[in-house]
Amino acid sequence: MKKIQISPSILSADFSQLGQEIKKLEDAGADMIHVDVMDGHFVPNLTIGPPVIKALKKHSNVLFDVHLMISPVHKYIEAYSDAGADIITIHPEATDNLNSSISKIKELKKKVGVSLNPETKIDIILDVLDQIDLVLIMSVNPGFGGQKFMPEVLSKIKELKKIQKAKKIDFDIEIDGGINFENSKTVIEAGANILVSGTTIFKSNNGDIKKNIELLKSK
Ligand code: DX5
Ligand code: ZN
Repeated sequence: MKKIQISPSILSADFSQLGQEIKKLEDAGADMIHVDVMDGHFVPNLTIGPPVIKALKKHSNVLFDVHLMISPVHKYIEAYSDAGADIITIHPEATDNLNSSISKIKELKKKVGVSLNPETKIDIILDVLDQIDLVLIMSVNPGFGGQKFMPEVLSKIKELKKIQKAKKIDFDIEIDGGINFENSKTVIEAGANILVSGTTIFKSNNGDIKKNIELLKSK
């Protein structure tokens, strides 16, 4: 089994001191930093863009796991790569040509992720699974932190594990939305190896980030 990694979402951090918040996450043992990019069009919320990511990346050594919830995504891929994204995750519905967006990310020598909304079926990415580094399973409808985990997406993780075995291919399975101490064990058992978490990391146990990261990892 793969090592379990935690990717804290800075969506729940104090935006007035993001640099320090990332430093805290790094010191607390975060394996990467999940950056939620929203455009008010693909999802009904707006967050941050390349200049902020560039400024934050300059002062940190941890991997930036950038989740692009923007459409059309293709023309912005390079800007996020230049800003310092290490993993670039896109939604298939946000590009006219999934294959060329994946190729673009690879040309820029970044890791490629493809994300599935709760209602999006695996079929849409079957042909690209051998080209990508990770599948990001959304366990809430993207747009906001603090939503309730949707257990019905667990079957997709199990299906992906079966496909990996049958096709002898490897990619990370990341899960995003409503992850807490109650469901972390279930998602890991289903086959997820990267857990995104905003609310649980920043708000549980009076904001004891280190403890919360450890608790999410321990099964
Ligand atoms: C939702 C985002 C998630 C979310 C995670 O659109 O992609 O990363 O903010 O936050 P919690 O853990 O609060 O659900
Ligand atoms: Zn996310």
